Amino acid sequence: MGKAGELSVLGIETSCDETAAAVVSWSEAGGPSIRSNVVLSQIREHEAFGGVVPEIAARAHVEALDGVVEAALKDAGVSLGDVDAIAATAGPGLIGGLIVGLMTAKALAAASGKPLIAVNHLEGHALTGRLTDGLSFPYLLLLVSGGHTQIVLVRGVGDYERWATTIDDALGEAFDKTAKLIGLPYPGGPNVEKAAVRGDGARFALPRPMKGEARPDFSFSGLKTAVRQAATAIAPLSATDVDDLCASFQEAIAETLEDRVGRSLDRFRAAFPGIAGPVLVVAGGVAANRAVRARLERTCASRGFRFVAPPQVLCTDNGAMIAWAGIERLRAGLAGADAMTLAPRSRWPLDEYAGPLIGSGRRGAKA
Ligand code: KG4
Ligand code: ZN
Repeated sequence: MGKAGELSVLGIETSCDETAAAVVSWSEAGGPSIRSNVVLSQIREHEAFGGVVPEIAARAHVEALDGVVEAALKDAGVSLGDVDAIAATAGPGLIGGLIVGLMTAKALAAASGKPLIAVNHLEGHALTGRLTDGLSFPYLLLLVSGGHTQIVLVRGVGDYERWATTIDDALGEAFDKTAKLIGLPYPGGPNVEKAAVRGDGARFALPRPMKGEARPDFSFSGLKTAVRQAATAIAPLSATDVDDLCASFQEAIAETLEDRVGRSLDRFRAAFPGIAGPVLVVAGGVAANRAVRARLERTCASRGFRFVAPPQVLCTDNGAMIAWAGIERLRAGLAGADAMTLAPRSRWPLDEYAGPLIGSGRRGAKA
């Protein structure tokens, strides 16, 4: 057990295609510090299938997790006896991976006598801005990953309100599917971005789904269909066609995000008029996209918001965000005593009161 005013937590993340473990410490005097952060990506295992295959993911987690946990402890220079608790993602995500992570964490907790904290993966993303940038509540989170596209009001630890979600594809999924249909390899997002840099974003007139609508949600499947139609009309595609399609797609995404996110920023302003420096923090793999980032920065700047984008390794799935969520829960007295008997949940909305997650997580609630 650490000294008074100090905490260290081992975090385990296995909800999708990253096997990850990390040790994060916090002290009253020094704040948080990431002692280690080991992430083993399974992209190679899934590449040939053009997407994440749940059975392959589960097997890969089984094979890799013990070594990843050992490496995280070793990098941090601690043993299991030195941490105060073990935090593991209990959902949402692919059930096979969740079982592997949670069972491993339960075994480690039982063997070491340390408490187990079951963490919602989305809470990990939601609280990362406090780990990296010391944000204070409340703030807005934009989560744009392969499985989720959400705007969440983060009011406090365990206190979230989902303001917007996608009604069909997640944004990362839209990048991946668009890439696939014009012949670019998996994972599509980074390849679309590379091609877009060379392309003409004004060549194809693509829709800006839901732009101008009062409802704050997102929709991307129509855009993907529009790309398919444009591509079919000029097939076979030259390299320039591919570049121009990617650039036009990305431009449509950027403009759509500006409109959709802007609406929630305005809502935040109206809800919290007393907050002088309101913040939007971004998380998820799509946050790596420079065009998306630049447009979000502009959207925030034009409304007097601060735009916070944590380092990419902490925007995508990782163990540090789970360890940190564990620390936040311990400090808030919300660690929960029942974690040893909890079952993993493939679906687990952050905001239990929000309506059903229409269309979100259809690829196994990948977050
Ligand atoms: O957060 P993440 O690593 O994994 C989960 O979904 O949990 O996000 C992966 C998603 C993929 O759909 C990937 O294509 C997308 O993020 N992505 C990008 C870029 N890098 C990753 N999308 C657009 N541009 C990028 N540079
Ligand atoms: Zn995630």
